[in-house]
Amino acid sequence: MNVIVIGATSGIGRAVAEIYIRQGHRVGITGRREALLREVALNAPEGAVFPKAFDVSEDDAAEHLSELVAAIGGVDVCLYSSGYGHTNTVLEPSLELGQVDVNAKGFVRCSVWLFNYWAERGVRGHLAVISSVASILPLGVCPAYSATKKFEAFYAQTLRQLARIREADIRITVIKPGFVDTDFIHGRHFPMTIRKENAAASIVRAIKRNKKTAVIDGRWAALGVLMRMIPSPLWNWAGRFFRPYKDMF
Ligand SMILES: NC(=O)c1ccc[n+]([C@@H]2O[C@H](COP(=O)([O-])OP(=O)(O)OC[C@H]3O[C@@H](n4cnc5c(N)ncnc54)[C@H](OP(=O)(O)O)[C@@H]3O)[C@@H](O)[C@H]2O)c1
Repeated sequence: MNVIVIGATSGIGRAVAEIYIRQGHRVGITGRREALLREVALNAPEGAVFPKAFDVSEDDAAEHLSELVAAIGGVDVCLYSSGYGHTNTVLEPSLELGQVDVNAKGFVRCSVWLFNYWAERGVRGHLAVISSVASILPLGVCPAYSATKKFEAFYAQTLRQLARIREADIRITVIKPGFVDTDFIHGRHFPMTIRKENAAASIVRAIKRNKKTAVIDGRWAALGVLMRMIPSPLWNWAGRFFRPYKDMF
């Protein structure tokens, strides 16, 4: 199988790429930090890894992606893991817009190219995206993060229906992790933090089982059910309890 992980220089994406490499697949890896891509390739069997450095917030991201797909010889599965988040209670504009560029616009750039690639060739493809449990309720401490994670999940769901409309054999998986021990949380300790290797194993399993949505892990799935039951006025009122978490990540 040919797999691409967009955002594989570190964290969850890298851990997922390493699982696919161990499983013997051909794996395309991306991210801006070229040295880290080379490091992954160096530790893998020869010819298994196809590194391509690019920035998903740039307009030429899809061109880079198409070159990578050509180099591997097609793509069966793609995980979009590029993303970042910041609490931003002072609403610093560049912080808000930067997250929109990477999490939302970058995802659109890559996913529309992949969707059309699979649909136009009439081949099966599987797109997975790492959203977050932060997409379940609007989080006032991190407006752009929470909203872009919702965007990723919702956009992916629209693509699932579009696949029906266009009679394309395209599978979609939305991944919603809780806290995972990556650079994203800067070594801080939060309740129910998951090891990135465990999160990655769950993601690979969810893709293999063609899950539509996977909340990682079970504890977060249970909490997610409760979160969805909270009425909006109560959630707004609860904002006062978030005051100590202004710089959470
Ligand atoms: N860790 C958590 O607690 C947690 C929880 C829920 C969801 N998530 C989501 O999981 C995904 C992966 O994050 P992580 O926790 O694994 O953190 P991470 O270690 O910081 O990984 C982020 C990845 O995104 C890539 N990236 C960032 N900006 C990019 C850009 N402009 N162009 C291309 N690639 C870019 C980074 O590569 P370069 O810097 O090399 O470009 C890196 O590979 C994110 O979408 C995050 O929102 C994380």
